[in-house]
Amino acid sequence: MSLREIITLPDPLLRQTSRPVSGVDKAARKLFDDMLETMYAAPGIGLAAVQIGVPQRLVVIDLSKEDEERKPLFMANPEIVSASEALSDYEEGCLSIPEFYEMVARPSEVKVRYLDRQGEARELAASGILATCIQHEIDHLNGVLFIDYVSKLKRDRVIKKFVKAQKLGKL
Ligand code: NI
Repeated sequence: MSLREIITLPDPLLRQTSRPVSGVDKAARKLFDDMLETMYAAPGIGLAAVQIGVPQRLVVIDLSKEDEERKPLFMANPEIVSASEALSDYEEGCLSIPEFYEMVARPSEVKVRYLDRQGEARELAASGILATCIQHEIDHLNGVLFIDYVSKLKRDRVIKKFVKAQKLGKL
């Protein structure tokens, strides 16, 4: 495993649609492992491959607490197959938009279909923070960021801040 650099706003790659993987081969597993190590080091609870500069439809998630056993979830080509009408609000953040947090409303429950680390097709019913996290990560695969759900004023402000920081060479 190796630690990879996480790209941040305003990197245009974050707006790109990631391409599906043809299966979970050795290269995809290596990428999964790098993503997981990078996410744990950050630390974060979810990471999409595009955030380490690889626009492929791969996601890692681990909601376990620091003192708990780690329970990583590996998802290749994840797809939401159904979503509840009921919404839940959670305060979201993103490793590609450091130090910015906002409440976002998303479907409370989702069913997701994906290939696991062994390449087996799986379906998972998720609720609570896991449902939010899965939706946030799948959004990354479609070039969508959680700031797209906040007011234009707040979004413009945070984008401006990152563009400015980049110009000053602080990122
Ligand atoms: Ni994110």
